[in-house]
Amino acid sequence: MSLYNELLKKVDKENLPSHVAIIMDGNGRWAQKRKLVRVRGHEQGSKVVKRIVETASNLGISVLSLYAFSKENWNRPREEVDALMQLLHHYLLVESRNLIKNGIRLSIIGDLKSLSPKLNELIADVCARSKKNTGTRVVIALSYSGRYEITQAVKEVVRDVQRHRISVDDVDEQMFGQYLFTRGLPDPDLLIRTSAEKRISNFMLWQIAYTELYITKTLWPDFTKEEFLKAIISYQKRERRFGMTGDQLSRRPDSFRGYSLNE
Ligand code: FPP
Repeated sequence: MSLYNELLKKVDKENLPSHVAIIMDGNGRWAQKRKLVRVRGHEQGSKVVKRIVETASNLGISVLSLYAFSKENWNRPREEVDALMQLLHHYLLVESRNLIKNGIRLSIIGDLKSLSPKLNELIADVCARSKKNTGTRVVIALSYSGRYEITQAVKEVVRDVQRHRISVDDVDEQMFGQYLFTRGLPDPDLLIRTSAEKRISNFMLWQIAYTELYITKTLWPDFTKEEFLKAIISYQKRERRFGMTGDQLSRRPDSFRGYSLNE
């Protein structure tokens, strides 16, 4: 039996993470180790994106979020930024038919106005064409930063108060979440970061409050569908306490998701 099938047998299909988020790190180092230009690492990385999207979709993961380009990444050398934008354009253009055929719904989050009109046009087209799909929702974070997202949300809340659409007292965590780019999506249950860095790098700062972290040494271009399964198996062994005690959990075997202190 293949390693993949062996691991698949260990995955509890009843306890899959609804939302898996990934910080795809290590493309540059992968290329440098091979004396290649950094862009080659991003190219290899985009092939891995294709594989992991397929794996998540086959498993039945509801949401897969991929951190593809941060707002801070604009400060990289011009050639690298251009190559990354071209790669993203190519991925959306070439992969969209496959994604749509496989029932995937695509969303892009981030500061879209900082992207080129051509890329924006393609994003709008692919998102619209996949909108009715009910399979895995693939969220690509592009020109994204968690602080930017929160700041934008705060501005929108203030505007809605000024327009008398809501009052200050209406604002709570649940409502604030509806102002984020990820409105309507569950928070990530599992965040995978490749290349051993122990950082969050401004990704989904609000949403990952109680997310389980899986950090691997593997560089993103070497990340495999087997390791994706290993991350899920690791997640399934954890006890998620959401601030409660282990004792409380064993007395509440039912779902404790969304537990709040006011309950
Ligand atoms: C971080 O590695 C990775 C990025 C900044 C880009 C991620 C992009 C891809 C995986 C390919 C395109 C994406 C899609 C969705 C098709 P790094 O360059 O910071 O690596 P380093 O830390 O080793 O330098």
